[in-house]
Amino acid sequence: MKYESQRVAWWFFATCMLLLSLQIVYGFIMGFAHAGYDNLHAIIPFHAARATHTNLLVMWLLCGFMGAAYYIIPEESESELYSPKLALVQLGALVVTGVTAIIGFHFNWWEGRKFLEIPRPLDFLVVIDVLAFIFNIGMTVKNGRRFTTTSLVLFFGLFAAALLYLPGMIPTINQTNDSYWRWWVVHLWVEGVWELIMGGILSFLLIKLTGVDREVIEKWLYVIVGLTFLSGILGTGHHYYFIGTPNYWKWIGGVFSALEPLAFLGMAIYAVTMARKGGRNHPNRNALLWTVGCSIMSFVGAGFLGFAHTIPQVNLYTHGTLITAMHGHLAFWGAYAMIVLAIITYALPNLTGRRRHDAPSAQIAFWTSNIGMLAMTAAFAVAGITQVYLERRVGMDFIVVQREIQVHFVGLILAASLFTFGIGAFIWNFIKYGRPVGEVLPAGASDETPEEAITAGHLEGIA
Ligand code: HEM
Ligand code: HEM
Ligand SMILES: [Fe+2]
Repeated sequence: MKYESQRVAWWFFATCMLLLSLQIVYGFIMGFAHAGYDNLHAIIPFHAARATHTNLLVMWLLCGFMGAAYYIIPEESESELYSPKLALVQLGALVVTGVTAIIGFHFNWWEGRKFLEIPRPLDFLVVIDVLAFIFNIGMTVKNGRRFTTTSLVLFFGLFAAALLYLPGMIPTINQTNDSYWRWWVVHLWVEGVWELIMGGILSFLLIKLTGVDREVIEKWLYVIVGLTFLSGILGTGHHYYFIGTPNYWKWIGGVFSALEPLAFLGMAIYAVTMARKGGRNHPNRNALLWTVGCSIMSFVGAGFLGFAHTIPQVNLYTHGTLITAMHGHLAFWGAYAMIVLAIITYALPNLTGRRRHDAPSAQIAFWTSNIGMLAMTAAFAVAGITQVYLERRVGMDFIVVQREIQVHFVGLILAASLFTFGIGAFIWNFIKYGRPVGEVLPAGASDETPEEAITAGHLEGIA
């Protein structure tokens, strides 16, 4: 760690661990409900569990992105954070707003719009909070001694994500208009500006972990930003097929969204090539595993499984079924959960001064959670294909089909247990690292191999 203020990132990462745990609890509640054991229905009905599960997901990912920015931006800009105090206040306010929203869902205080369920008054608090965050990192970039492509892409991604929250707040009583604007937030986040955030974090990690020249790594970043915008903006059309919008969206959405996997393929080739090219044997192999793993799993989950249902002729049958849940899980996991877990894995030894990155629990966490998530995806796929066939080809009633596919959710629960074991190992390791007490190291020291650290006399106190 080079700058004292980078330490605030730890609090964001710790919040991620808490919210992720709670998200998993709600996942199980829904898994059991789908399997026919909806025993908590009176207290936590399915719609409340679902809104809580997905909003907790978005909340912990945003906390992770903010933590990543508070860690990366000072180092890239070569200056202390503008205000670590504001960062902590802003984290506290975000958590209070989020927890209020989630309690509200359980009392039917919600908007019922998938992913944007948070009631309007709380939306305004979220906007103010995110603006405080943008101000804090914006001032750090402005006052910094260095502007790097990595920090600018990360900053612009976060700034655009904040702006794109606003279309979701446009008041309308028309269902089609409401859906139209909702996708500006949901789609343009995950298939647009969040990809820039992911690209920025990926670039930082590859620079640190592979030792390949910054110029080479950042050149790739331009290509990825270009591919993302080229395909992702008009790709929004793949949500406008059957919702009452004009017919031309079928062509536009189909063609441009079919190109979207290219950006994810680009990131996978980019990360694998840099990892192979990097001569430097960075001690934190586990962080490189999460980084390269993220680029590959995001291609599979977002690129491949997204492509699988993006053509209107296919989407006509799969729209709004468990096929969507299949893709949603692996895409969110591969792209955004894994990039957050990658930056946490990279930052923890530097923040806490302890070197636990090759602990067995760290290895177990990576493999078990990933295999568990792939198995969950397979369980959703089997349930989803069966649902599409029986409901949309055979013409059976929705609720009759739901009973037919209950058995596949036993498989989902087993797979999810494996996944949860992996996440448990990750959190256990996080706790073992302890609080951020690491001293501020001389520039570059946090990326030394143990041998280099001994030679330079930096290893004392951090062994
Ligand atoms: C990391 C990037 C991505 C994430 C996190 C993601 C996640 C999701 C989620 C959660 C949904 C359900 C949204 C809702 O119904 O409100 C969804 C829908 C969809 N996604 Fe993605 N996605 C990503 C990338 C892609 C890509 C690259 C494609 C196409 C190549 C794609 C194609 C689709 C389609 C067609 C739907 C609509 C499904 C339906 O009609 O029910 N996604 N995605
Ligand atoms: C123990 C782990 C988990 C279980 C058992 C679980 C289960 C479920 C279930 C049953 C649904 C509802 C599907 C429906 O609408 O019928 C759901 C929705 C969702 N979950 Fe999970 N989940 C788990 C973990 C996760 C994780 C780690 C992520 C993200 C990385 C995630 C992302 C999502 C998303 C994006 C949706 C909405 C999908 C859609 O729009 O169709 N879940 N989950
Ligand atoms: Fe989309």
